[in-house]
Amino acid sequence: MLKAELHCHLEGATPPALARAKAAKYGVTVDDLITPDGESYAWSDFTTFLAAYDRIAGLFRTPDDFFDLSHAHFAELAGQGAIYAEVFLSPDHMGRHGSYPDCLDAVIEGSLKAREETGIEGRFIPLAVRNFGPERALAAAEQAVRYARPQVTGFGLAGDERAFLPADFHAAFATAHEAGLSCTAHAGELAGAESVRQALDALPVSRIGHGVRAVEDADLVRRLADEKVALEVCPGSNIALGIYADLAAHPLRALMDAGVRVTLNSDDPPFFRTSLAQEYESCGASCGLSEAELADLTRTALAAAFVDEETRQRLLHSLP
Ligand code: ADE
Ligand code: ZN
Repeated sequence: MLKAELHCHLEGATPPALARAKAAKYGVTVDDLITPDGESYAWSDFTTFLAAYDRIAGLFRTPDDFFDLSHAHFAELAGQGAIYAEVFLSPDHMGRHGSYPDCLDAVIEGSLKAREETGIEGRFIPLAVRNFGPERALAAAEQAVRYARPQVTGFGLAGDERAFLPADFHAAFATAHEAGLSCTAHAGELAGAESVRQALDALPVSRIGHGVRAVEDADLVRRLADEKVALEVCPGSNIALGIYADLAAHPLRALMDAGVRVTLNSDDPPFFRTSLAQEYESCGASCGLSEAELADLTRTALAAAFVDEETRQRLLHSLP
């Protein structure tokens, strides 16, 4: 099964072994954050998840660190059958210790090395962190635009959806969108349908990160289908964060049946004990998706990808 991913946070994909290696390099410890089996990170709710995320992100400081992380991520995804992957970058995190453009170039180099080795195609979406507020969001958008690269094709908004309103980020999104970046925003994850509606009304977005809680409002579900908004659905993340009890309770299938364009994604894989391959497998088994429906999710992801038309068509034609 060939796969494509639209929603994964770079630092959120840090393999715990790489976190330990970088912690040793900087003379700090993250042992308290790594679970006893060494496979994931420990946190207890969204707030402690974001705090753990910040600490892991703080282990990546130089271009070499970012190269290692990016290369490891794309190589891992290619090993899982992914032919295309977009990755969220946070200029707020990447610029904390060093230069954002130098770290950005290293991240791109890491993906290009993985492409040479495996063929996987990568694109990047710098994003603003909602709980850092509108001013820092505007600064993130300005950096996304100033350091334009062919592989940087989008702009996004993540972080705590309970902080501020989408409209507060209008200036940041206008800056990015006017410069030709395609846009997406996390909404309908921690907050309900109204949050998704606000993001669609206030921001120039063609996709929504998560968006699953739109299912709480039938009119909004129809709007998503009519306007062909693609949802970057991350079932394992939703279950780990307690938004749904299990896959049987997850609205993926209901959204598909309502004609909404959905894609499958891993979000922050080791934080949520998941992977892109596991999302395909578990949704196949527990949401009753056939092989053909899973293959269609890859097609939808490529159709909704923030990528040039030539690459999109090449990737679509490479599918069986
Ligand atoms: N940053 C990293 N992962 C996130 C998520 N699932 N929701 C919001 N912000 C995030
Ligand atoms: Zn996310």
